[in-house]
Amino acid sequence: MSKYKVMVVGLGKRGGHHVKHFCTHPDFKVTAICDIRQDAIDAIAKELDSPVTGTDAREVALAAKPDVFCFCTLPDIRSQMIGIAIESGAKLIAFEKPVALTTTEGAKIKKMIEDSGIKAVLSYQHRYGPHYQKVAEIISSGAIGDIHTIYATAVGWSTHMAEHMLHYTRWFANYPVPEWVMANVAGKCKLSSPDKHYSPDYIGAFVQYTGGIRGIYEIGGGAPDVPQVKKWFHKNRIGAMGTNGYAEVYTGNGYKAVTREGIFEGPGAMDYDQDMPGYIDDIAKWLNEGIKHPCRFSNAYTNFEIWQAMYRSYFEGGQISLPLKNTMDEIEELKKRMPDKKIMVTFDESRNEY
Ligand SMILES: NC(=O)c1ccc[n+]([C@@H]2O[C@H](COP(=O)([O-])OP(=O)(O)OC[C@H]3O[C@@H](n4cnc5c(N)ncnc54)[C@H](O)[C@@H]3O)[C@@H](O)[C@H]2O)c1
Repeated sequence: MSKYKVMVVGLGKRGGHHVKHFCTHPDFKVTAICDIRQDAIDAIAKELDSPVTGTDAREVALAAKPDVFCFCTLPDIRSQMIGIAIESGAKLIAFEKPVALTTTEGAKIKKMIEDSGIKAVLSYQHRYGPHYQKVAEIISSGAIGDIHTIYATAVGWSTHMAEHMLHYTRWFANYPVPEWVMANVAGKCKLSSPDKHYSPDYIGAFVQYTGGIRGIYEIGGGAPDVPQVKKWFHKNRIGAMGTNGYAEVYTGNGYKAVTREGIFEGPGAMDYDQDMPGYIDDIAKWLNEGIKHPCRFSNAYTNFEIWQAMYRSYFEGGQISLPLKNTMDEIEELKKRMPDKKIMVTFDESRNEY
């Protein structure tokens, strides 16, 4: 079988990870790379076999005609990149969370992907970590009984963390469908974040899912510490409670399950080199065997809509039913409506960011 030709756009931190791990998978060959920074192109081009290179993604894509169009740019140019991928004739788009910054952009992307029929996946690659896998295995074995609650806390801001938290909790509960969301937000400092991951500094939210499952989420500087984890950005607690116990993963340090059969604990830490190969291999399986990727766009879009409904609850008050019925620029609305009131962070380390 000839290898799938891969183009990677945006050669920063995550672009570098994608180039590396597409290169190590036997089914893929990175044949094109693009960044607006020539130095980033030069640094990676020398590791590859005469790739097509350039600073204009459309020009490179039309010349290289990739099978897989992967982009790892910041969140502000999603629909532009999706348009280029479709125009280039790619079979699959691999991109980074978040789906988009606003529902106006998100809905546009959804339509483009659905109308073209192109496959698309988002990088929720933490799920391939052994501690995440262990928690999923314990829960699916029935050891904690019937799930009634899923929950996550993360100290990073929501444009970085919300879709991750929603994806892993929904995975643990076998992807329940959201019915309504109720939430509030605090703190405007990250609404003008230089990394373009515009977010309120803190969200607290309840989500009602089908099957009577309740979701509880806290994301940002008001979220509690996860003391067993040292690295600030990895202080996430993600779990499920059932009729017979609970199981939870800590992104930066292991997992714990309390069940009728006993207490189970073990190691594990989020690590790109450990987590990326499984994510890339599932892309190959979708292309080769038609086995749908667990991080596929249709699934990711549900995470995105739940997260955006949290903002709607702040604007409209009360419970917001899903799916959402209209689109808007949530970031502009947050900027207009939120008071200039600093958040009260939960622990000192979070003051460095908020
Ligand atoms: N899945 C994860 O665990 C994870 C972790 C970190 C970041 N991310 C996501 O990955 C994405 C990228 O983050 P990053 O940390 O790699 O950012 P980065 O700033 O390191 O890299 C972005 C790159 O895109 C390039 N770029 C910008 N506009 C471009 C354009 N029009 N054409 C070509 N290149 C362009 C920049 O020059 C830069 O090199 C973000 O959406 C972020 O949320 C995901």
